[in-house]
Amino acid sequence: MGRREETILATVVNGLHTSEVVHMRVLVVYYSRSGVTRKACEAIAASLSVAGHEAVTEELIDKTDREGMMGWLAGGRDATLKKPTAIGPVRAEVGAFDLVVIGTPVWAFTCAPAARAFCEQFAGQLQRVAFVATMGGSGDRGAYEAMERYCGKAPVATLTLIDKHIRSDDAERYAAKVEAFVQELMAEA
Ligand SMILES: Cc1cc2nc3c(=O)[nH]c(=O)nc-3n(C[C@H](O)[C@H](O)[C@H](O)COP(=O)(O)O)c2cc1C
Repeated sequence: MGRREETILATVVNGLHTSEVVHMRVLVVYYSRSGVTRKACEAIAASLSVAGHEAVTEELIDKTDREGMMGWLAGGRDATLKKPTAIGPVRAEVGAFDLVVIGTPVWAFTCAPAARAFCEQFAGQLQRVAFVATMGGSGDRGAYEAMERYCGKAPVATLTLIDKHIRSDDAERYAAKVEAFVQELMAEA
């Protein structure tokens, strides 16, 4: 069934007008080394669900050990050198989703190797994409440019979040930005 057939005609209860709400199937897929991107992406999916969309989350597993100081150093080096990495099997049927939101931490001013692996592996199956980047302070632009190249698709929307704002549940600089991003995704449907 296509997106148009899945359209739900929602009647506004006050009877003043009838509006058309497109029901989306959204896959929110992310890599997260230390939980920050996971928290943001799970919040995005929860917000989409509350708005009546089908939102499925999946965490990407980097088969390279990224733990500890050595993992941190090697991660930065691998991202800088664009060294490919292998990811664990992706359970979701990626091509069946209207929209795939891809979340990554910024590593060395680009996306994490696992996010790159996902983009390259599924480029041919992606319908529409949106990108989420979390970071300490800078490098989101490099991450988005790289992901667009790897996916072969421009994102319909992007969301940049700062790690400390996510960790502290900052109302203005985290929660409100997540809500605005979800609204943007729905407007693009
Ligand atoms: C290897 C490595 C490289 C990083 N490079 C950057 C960077 O270039 N710019 C930046 O602002 N933050 C950088 N960071 C910080 C992370 O992007 C940030 O803390 C992110 O929110 C962590 O997300 P996660 O908990 O989902 O892994 C780097 C972190 C790691 C581990």
